[in-house]
Amino acid sequence: MRLSVVGCGYLGAVHAAAMASIGHDVVGIDIDERKVAALSKGEAPFFEPGLQEILTEGIASGRLSFTTDMSAAQGAKVHFVGVGTPQQAGGYAADLTYVDAAIDGLLPFLTEGDIVAGKSTVPVGTAVRLAPRVSATGATLVWNPEFLREGWAVQDTVDPDRLVAGVPSDDGYPTAEGERAADILREVYHPSVEKGTPFIVTDYATAELVKVSANAFLATKISFINAMAEIAEVTGADVTTLADAIGHDARIGRRFLGAGIGFGGGCLPKDIRAFSARAEELGRGESVAFLREIDAINLRRRDRAVDLAVDALGGTVFKKNITVLGAAFKPQSDDIRDSPALDVAVRLHGLGAWVTITDPAAIENARRVHPQLNYVEDRDEALREADAVIVVTEWDEYRRELSPEHAATLARGRTVIDGRNCLDAASWRAAGWTYHGMGRP
Ligand code: UGA
Repeated sequence: MRLSVVGCGYLGAVHAAAMASIGHDVVGIDIDERKVAALSKGEAPFFEPGLQEILTEGIASGRLSFTTDMSAAQGAKVHFVGVGTPQQAGGYAADLTYVDAAIDGLLPFLTEGDIVAGKSTVPVGTAVRLAPRVSATGATLVWNPEFLREGWAVQDTVDPDRLVAGVPSDDGYPTAEGERAADILREVYHPSVEKGTPFIVTDYATAELVKVSANAFLATKISFINAMAEIAEVTGADVTTLADAIGHDARIGRRFLGAGIGFGGGCLPKDIRAFSARAEELGRGESVAFLREIDAINLRRRDRAVDLAVDALGGTVFKKNITVLGAAFKPQSDDIRDSPALDVAVRLHGLGAWVTITDPAAIENARRVHPQLNYVEDRDEALREADAVIVVTEWDEYRRELSPEHAATLARGRTVIDGRNCLDAASWRAAGWTYHGMGRP
């Protein structure tokens, strides 16, 4: 099928390449000329395992191209919209400027029977507002939220755990136009549909809410365990053992119960804030008032990591060499948007520490935003003469591949702070280190 993808950021670039990889003819459209030039050469504009390969293959096969020219959308049957919805400057609500511009830009090139499939994360009520503009051209708007995780984006797009289509509905039931639109999306995602991946057809509001409530739930899970970490810290309990124990209950599950310096990235923090803002607008602020607490717990954990470093270094980090292992908001990513790791590094720098920071993928991005830190590519080089080491992104390079004995030959001090509870505390202690975890004795 011929598809267009408007917006070639994280979501759109991966979506375009993944759709070409399953056999569609895809044109990716973005206003950023540099991004389009890079993508057209088959260069992934960010670190994402597997993306480079499917980009190169797609372009070589002739099924994938990128342009800044919106008219290239003409002739496609389905037009995906995957532009960003950042947090508004000066507020918590989502900024929908790009979504509106993408839809308006597409309108002249839509023909009767086309599908416009919104993938961006939007406040509930957006699709119903946009639908009349799309219908006026004879096309149909559907909302088809995206659940990909950075680091697993290609796999999550090609083989998602569920597909959701919010379609035109009447009293909660899809209209004939809605059914037809859902069928076309089933064709687009045919490998997943044939495999039996759940394909949920619903109304616009439900589809929009599925997305934000999924992220709100994940954020809640993380802040829940981090709240338990705070209690563990004053009682001598160990939050990792606690998480293992409650995680055995299938109703709870162990995933996303990793206590540490909390969540960041381009989605969870902004999505829970936008959700709160939207709920307020709807007069239901109290229904998600707990999300403010989720946010507050999350941010407190960064303070905690900084306090641990200060205490461990005898009450001040001033003029102390601190090696920060990690800058990305999570491993397998070069994304530093709202990165707790980088935030901790910047705060330590602000307290007068000499911060040396390393990361397998995110140095370039981090340096652009925080040039004041000392960036070192080589992990061992970064560890040299450290008074304290703090692990803030759980890359395998630090979690599995760094032996405490080896680290001890490089560092000056023997203080390690495990901001992600990802190190084997016993082996670090055995190698002579003073180990400090988050919510662990
Ligand atoms: C998140 C969701 O997981 C995706 O399903 C969703 O599609 C995406 O947002 C989005 O809305 O686009 P992502 O931002 O890639 O994906 O990152 P996550 O894997 O969810 O991690 C978010 C943050 O939580 C990271 O900073 C991570 O370190 C932290 N985290 C995660 C914890 O602190 N503890 C955990 O146990 C798990």
